[in-house]
Amino acid sequence: MLNWEEFDKDDDTATAKPAQAAGQQAPAQTERLDSEGDALVHDARALSADDSDAVARAKAALNELDIQEGLDDLEGSSARVHVGDKQMINARADLNQLVPFKYDWAWQKYLDGCANHWMPQEVNMNADIATWKSPDGLTEDERRIVKRNLGFFSTADSLVANNLVLAVYRLITNPECRQYILRQAFEEAIHTHAYQYCIESLGMDEGEIFNMYHEIPSVAKKASWGLKYTRSISDPEFKTGTPETDRQFLKNLIAYYCVLEGIFFYCGFTQILSMGRRNKMTGTAEQFQYILRDESMHLNFGIDMINQIKIENPQLWDAQMKDEATQMILQGTQLEIEYARDTMPRGVLGMNAAMMEDYLKFIANRRLTQIGLKEEYPGATNPFPWMSEIMDLKKEKNFFETRVIEYQTGGALSWD
Ligand SMILES: [Fe+2]
Ligand SMILES: [Fe+2]
Repeated sequence: MLNWEEFDKDDDTATAKPAQAAGQQAPAQTERLDSEGDALVHDARALSADDSDAVARAKAALNELDIQEGLDDLEGSSARVHVGDKQMINARADLNQLVPFKYDWAWQKYLDGCANHWMPQEVNMNADIATWKSPDGLTEDERRIVKRNLGFFSTADSLVANNLVLAVYRLITNPECRQYILRQAFEEAIHTHAYQYCIESLGMDEGEIFNMYHEIPSVAKKASWGLKYTRSISDPEFKTGTPETDRQFLKNLIAYYCVLEGIFFYCGFTQILSMGRRNKMTGTAEQFQYILRDESMHLNFGIDMINQIKIENPQLWDAQMKDEATQMILQGTQLEIEYARDTMPRGVLGMNAAMMEDYLKFIANRRLTQIGLKEEYPGATNPFPWMSEIMDLKKEKNFFETRVIEYQTGGALSWD
């Protein structure tokens, strides 16, 4: 435990006990310290006889440094930030000043994401290895599901991470949202790590699995659909600021958050978690359960961002944009229905492609209404209500709790 009292012990007693609390020094005292500090800085920069040529050149280069020129290169203005200046896109407020917060939902999700930290190696894979290696451990249909899903997910999370880091991060002009995006990017790295860990543990052919997004049509179609939306905006020259480019960016957010993370993951998650519920491949299923929990937060964050951009830029959300957004979600649903049929040519694990189709239509209705569009599959119902329970943290009895508490206490510093 760290304690401020400990830090005081070795300090010069004359300066360790100021008459006023830290941060409230009298102006005269502050000025005196400033001028003493300036003089010491000046002395440090002076050339000395001991300086090597390299050190002398470093000092000389710093004497040429134009501080203002460096600060002028910052994104946004260099003025103090007022909450009213903050915006999701095209903001001029300084992006290096996290506070004052405008979007509390973004900061809260960052905190929640950190509190739920996990790593793939914490999951015991021994039972899965025995099941996978045993000739009668799984049926052929079950093996197909494991391989197809590791194939899809092992590259899909990289696509999401690349889109986040190379495109979304730059174009979202708000520091609390960027803070969550950084957390999300790390979580995507953990997910790719988790899939790699499963593939390695099970001794699968890595070339076969990692190349499914080129070689297996139902996997390739989903990857290629997502990439279409990242192509233009990941160009470093791409800028928002016109109705056309703002809409292009909004479509990217809908493609990645509502469709990739909000629809394309759901057939695979349901299949692997259903396997775990039947006591098969429980380690892989546990990894997927952690990932699903992270993904449902990514999805909710994306929906909050999309809706906030709509609130701040209502002109973008016209009839044509609404139609295009609806089309994107319906296309994504159709591709996921095709993926369900390819991965389940026959009934398996108490489910079949027709049930999955109902579930995906139910999910699509949710995605449409979450961004203010009307349902397109009236009356679709959820044949897998247990999936909602897994996503709802409060209903988890013993799954995450111990681990979450370990991380929270392990990482916390107490100052009293
Ligand atoms: Fe992910
Ligand atoms: Fe994600």
